[in-house]
Order: sequence, then C-alpha cells, then structure tokens
Amino acid sequence: MMDFSLETVRKLEAEFENPLYVLDESAFVQNYREFETTLQQQYPKYQLSYSFKTNYTPYICSLVKNLGGYAEVVSGFEYDIARRVGFTSSNIIFNGPNKGEDGLKALLDGCILNVDNLDELDAVCRRAKQFPAVSFEIGLRINLDVGQGFLSRFGMDPEDLTKAFAIVKAVPNLRIVGLHCHISRCRGKDAWQRRSEIMLDLSDRYFPDDPPKYIDLGSGMFGKMDPDFRAQFDSVPSYADYAAVTAKLVADHYSRFEEDRKPLLFTEPGTTLINKYIDFLGRIDVIKTIKGKDFAILNCSVHNLGEACTLKTLPMKVISAGGRSEYFENADLVGYTCLEQDVLYQRYTGFLGLGDYVQFGNVGGYSTVYKPPFIWPNCAMLVKQENGEYREIKRAESYDDLLGTYVF
Ligand SMILES: Cc1ncc(COP(=O)(O)O)c(C=O)c1O
Repeated sequence: MMDFSLETVRKLEAEFENPLYVLDESAFVQNYREFETTLQQQYPKYQLSYSFKTNYTPYICSLVKNLGGYAEVVSGFEYDIARRVGFTSSNIIFNGPNKGEDGLKALLDGCILNVDNLDELDAVCRRAKQFPAVSFEIGLRINLDVGQGFLSRFGMDPEDLTKAFAIVKAVPNLRIVGLHCHISRCRGKDAWQRRSEIMLDLSDRYFPDDPPKYIDLGSGMFGKMDPDFRAQFDSVPSYADYAAVTAKLVADHYSRFEEDRKPLLFTEPGTTLINKYIDFLGRIDVIKTIKGKDFAILNCSVHNLGEACTLKTLPMKVISAGGRSEYFENADLVGYTCLEQDVLYQRYTGFLGLGDYVQFGNVGGYSTVYKPPFIWPNCAMLVKQENGEYREIKRAESYDDLLGTYVF
C-alpha cells in the first residue's frame, strides 16, 4: 500500500474531496516492466496485452500504450476506449463471447479478433465474402480443460476445431492465424504449464507446416500483493515461475525455427498489472454499537472496492485524524448502502475515531469499473505521478452523469 501521512490525506480531501481512488504510477510502471521483462527474457517475442475490462481508466490504458503494450478488449465499448486512447487497431485484441456487429467492424479495421464460437465464425465468413478484395485473419478461442474443476462456457470445444478450420478453408480471403485461451479461477503454476502444453499441442496439430502467427494464453496469474493479503492464498508463483511454464516452453518448442517464423506469444494480464497499484481512501463518518457489536460506517461501500473485499480481507490501514479515539474489538467497517452485506472489513481490532481515514489496498481491478450507480455516484480517481504530485484522472460522478439516460 502507499504511504499516506495525515497531512497528505487532508490536503487531498481539501482539494479533491473524500473518498478517492489513488493510482501509484511509478509502482505500476515498475511492475509492468518487471512482468514484461521476465517473460521476454525467456521468449523475446512475448507481447503483453492489457485486459481493459479490469480497469479501463484511460490514463492507465495510455500508460500501457506508452509502455508498448497492446489492448485486450471484449466489447465495442472497450474497443472505442482503446481507439480514443490511441491504440492502432492492429494492436488491439478483440475477445469476448458476444461481440456482435462491433467485432465484425473491428475486424475490418484490422484488429486481432479471436472468434469464440461457430456462430460467430459463420458471421465472420459471411462478412469476409462481402469483401473479397480484403484478406482477413482471425484467431480461435479454445475451451481448455486444465483440471480447473468446472466447465467453462467460453471458447470452442476442441472437438469443433477441425470443423472450424474446414469452414474457413472454404473462404479464400479468410485465414486462421492464431489460437487463444483464457481460464479463470485457476492461477497455479501447474495449471499454467498444462495450459501452455495443450496450446502447443493444438498449434502443432492445426499448424503442421508453419507455426501460427500467434499463441495467446489469456491471463489468470497472481500479481504482486502486500504480505497480509498474499498470506490468504495457498501458493503464489512469482513472475519467473510463470515465465518458466509459459514463455520458456514456447521458446523451447519453437527453437528450431528462425525468429521471424516463431509465433508471437500473448498473455492478457489485468489484475496482475493493476490490482496492487490502486489504493482507496475513505473516512469514518459514524460509529455505533448494537447489542454489544461495534460498527464504523464509512463514506464508501463494497461497490467501490470491488468483489475482492467480499472474498478476502483487503490490506487496510486506519489513519488517525488526531481526534478522540477508542479501542474496539471485532468492529465491522461497513458501507453507506442499505445492504446488510455491505461490509468492507470484518472484525477490526484497534483504535478508531470519528473522522479517521481508512486506506484499503489492492483495489485496482474490478472496482471503479464495476461500481453500479447504486445509492451514491462514484468518487474521483487521482494519480500520484512519478514526480510525487497528485492529479485527478477521473472526476467524481455527478447526479447528472447518472440520470442523463432517464426520461423525467
Ligand atoms: C479473455 C480474458 N483475458 C484476460 C483476462 C484478465 O485476467 P486477469 O485479470 O486474471 O489477468 C480476463 C479476465 O476475466 C479474460 O476474460
């Protein structure tokens, strides 16, 4: 977590109000570079592609672009953000189970499109036939079983791949040039090794003469974490561990080929890149006791922090405002909403006072982009720039922002 003094928190509150998200730019950039370098050391043709859905704040996407990353998007909305940020279409990977017309338009633009299912493939074939003078290239998302213990609904059944290749072969200006997969809830090293091995087998089978143009392994790796957060997971591989079972395997597999014939290797990190580098600053507005149980009511909710705070205990720090404070045992820090389950932190033991600030860590992914317009609009986001100055990169939402679509 970032180190905030009371003076800084007060200054930020005076200038930008509270609550706030704060992005640590230099730590984000350092982590990005470390992740990318670790994979490129094993396989120089590794290309990082940032998962926009995790946090599409344009400032963050722009950092990724300037660092040489690609964009991974799953809708026309995210594709539009990527284009506005300045990604060229050839540096945008378009995934997703239901891209609709937006996917077909982006394909015509020249994006990297991974087809999820046979119906989508059919639509792509029809579009290619409408533009016989244009050469189209696509990838296929494959539904992998790496022992994750549940049936994923994404991608094509491997049983359908032969059929998919035959369908495409009948369209002269369409080619399959890449294979893609992504598996969630399965971040361990062995599962990643299995994922790489299956993808390399499939590449050999479906590209017997020449390697594919790219292999995209999706994402689902652990990122860096504060020690108390990390301790809540069984085993957390390092970036080097992941590189050894992905980039290294690909490097070994294609070692006999000249550099220009080796496939590009993508992964699509989201949470790995951003989670640890956004903190949240809230404030205790009410403290009350009901039948011996203490509650501190904050000016934020679980919706600001994202799902992670309902599954695990987020890193958290109380920053005393210097007023009267009392020692509490097993107090719950709860949100402003009317939901009983709006508990941001359970069983806090320590000092708390009215007006104290509460800092939560690890809230980069699925937080601000996941906040519904429920009860309160969302708050602003700042960046702590590399020169140490703070700047607003998303203003707080107004009532008009939220109500603009309704008819009064
Ligand atoms: C296709 C795809 N790629 C990448 C990601 C990002 O995964 P992570 O945040 O685990 O890096 C997701 C997340 O669901 C995804 O669905």
